[in-house]
Amino acid sequence: MTILNFGSINVDLVYALARMPQPGETLSAHSFQKFLGGKGVNQSVAIAASGGHVRHVGAVGPDGDWALARIAALGVATDHIARVEQATGHAIIFVDEQAENMIVIQGGANQALSLEQIDAALATAVPGDWVLLQNETNLTIEIVQKAKAAGLKVAYSPAPFDAEKALAVLDLVDLLAVNQYEAGELRAARRALGHTAPVDATLLVTLGSEGAELVSGDGRNLRQAAFKVTPVDTTGAGDTFLGAFLAHYTQNPDRAKTALRYAAAAAALQVQSHGAAVAIPAKQKVEAFLAERVGAG
Ligand code: RIB
Repeated sequence: MTILNFGSINVDLVYALARMPQPGETLSAHSFQKFLGGKGVNQSVAIAASGGHVRHVGAVGPDGDWALARIAALGVATDHIARVEQATGHAIIFVDEQAENMIVIQGGANQALSLEQIDAALATAVPGDWVLLQNETNLTIEIVQKAKAAGLKVAYSPAPFDAEKALAVLDLVDLLAVNQYEAGELRAARRALGHTAPVDATLLVTLGSEGAELVSGDGRNLRQAAFKVTPVDTTGAGDTFLGAFLAHYTQNPDRAKTALRYAAAAAALQVQSHGAAVAIPAKQKVEAFLAERVGAG
């Protein structure tokens, strides 16, 4: 079973600050680092690190060698990543002393996926495979429609949130992954259209330091608390949670509780290191953490 992840690839330019700047204010960063990131690639790395099989479908620009080398080094194949004319996507990220972040993205090559590339990637899928996507690439609606036409299951993380895009595919999605803010925005957008019934898709809501909740279409509800740790950088924690969860859940949806616990442990470890993709822990590390925190069973 493979997860085809149509996802963004960013160069994260990360500035560590004592606190976030106010509008009109100039602040000095006390450090600067360049990391691999992008919601899409972070999720692919988390799937691979968690023992899942992922095929990343994306695009980089003529300047993409640095990102491609890092993606490969983190265990994700790069053969479905196109080279396009636009520069590789990047993100400007501020991280403060509370480990919170502010992110601005510039899509670049992430906005240059082509229908041919999508078709070629989908042609490699077999029954039982899943498609994963976020909102940091172009053609999101087409990806979902084509994936469903091919009989595949779809997991969708509508971030950055765009109500129009999310509503256009909501009825086709099998698993919808949102944070609290996105869940509220989606509820408001549906209410404005007169939709008050729950969504059919299984809903994974990440709640930051409060953990996560999984609500199935039949109304069954699982709650997972977050493990208490001291974070240094929360960038990519939600991506880590989703990728780690999907690596397990897509293999066996009946073991959703185990998948949630594993994902919470992976995210707890990820926030204790700097950077997004590079901070995602390997399966052995997550299992050792779980054995220590909740026992071997
Ligand atoms: O979710 C974190 C990611 O959002 C960062 O890695 C950044 O690239 C943006 O896509």
